[in-house]
Amino acid sequence: MSSHSSSRRLMAPDIRALKGVRPVVSLTSYHAHTAAIADKYCDFLLVGDSLGMVMHGYETTVPVPLELMIMHGRAVVRGAKRALVVVDMPFGTYEESPSVAFRNAARVMKETDCGAVKLEGGRRMAETVDYLVQRGIPVMSHVGLTPQSINVIGGFKAQGRKQAEWAALEEDARAIADAGAFAVVLEAITAPLAARITAGIPIPTIGIGASANCDGQILVMEDMLGLSPRVPKFVREFGAIGAAIEGAIRSYSDEVRSGRFPAEEHTYTMKPGEDAAGEASGESVSPPPRVTKKPKTAST
Ligand code: KIV
Repeated sequence: MSSHSSSRRLMAPDIRALKGVRPVVSLTSYHAHTAAIADKYCDFLLVGDSLGMVMHGYETTVPVPLELMIMHGRAVVRGAKRALVVVDMPFGTYEESPSVAFRNAARVMKETDCGAVKLEGGRRMAETVDYLVQRGIPVMSHVGLTPQSINVIGGFKAQGRKQAEWAALEEDARAIADAGAFAVVLEAITAPLAARITAGIPIPTIGIGASANCDGQILVMEDMLGLSPRVPKFVREFGAIGAAIEGAIRSYSDEVRSGRFPAEEHTYTMKPGEDAAGEASGESVSPPPRVTKKPKTAST
């Protein structure tokens, strides 16, 4: 896909309207400069709570605080001008009740200026999705593997690998579509199940590890750039940024140690008429004299 052509920022209904028209393209984004690049090619950017693992070194997304989502959400909204920006609600900020979810989601929208929030869960979150949408907050849902439930699931495991599991996952997707979600992320589910869900609901399914049988795709940007030390089976590394970063840092360190950097072209010269000893201005360029404090003694 080349860059999209809309001249205004896309909104949740624009993403919803892409179902059956063309594939929805999206990436996660946590950072203003990379958001500005991805903005040219993506329909929406997700400030995912995976930022806790990718940027902040947590083992799971469970510890991620709301403030971190807001901080990165602001950066991405500043960087991206046209893509819809969706901010993940982190664990513990929305599950308790629809009103708690509304209070925190409204804070995210007001403080980041994003266009929608995402929350994990199917049937169990349907009432909350409806509550938020009725009050002006567009919601993207997330079913299949829901990483915030890692401690219940027992690992990052693909879902729907047994036919007996399909009905529950299909009901989850239908429930949040009926509740008014504008799109749903399907994470780590099998291809035939993704096909059934995609055919069975009127909102776009956005796959991550859910096959080509979805209405769109999302990947974690650092994973597809080749920056993450480990990636799941479903990731294709479209770049090798980790190796490029290491090569650049190795060259920098070699050049500093050998005295080749900084060179003359990286160095400021004095203004014409000034000389390096500071005689024309009368200012001294030698460092100020060091003041040594007298040590206190017990008798003073
Ligand atoms: O947090 C995240 O990056 C996500 C994607 C896996 C969709 O939710």
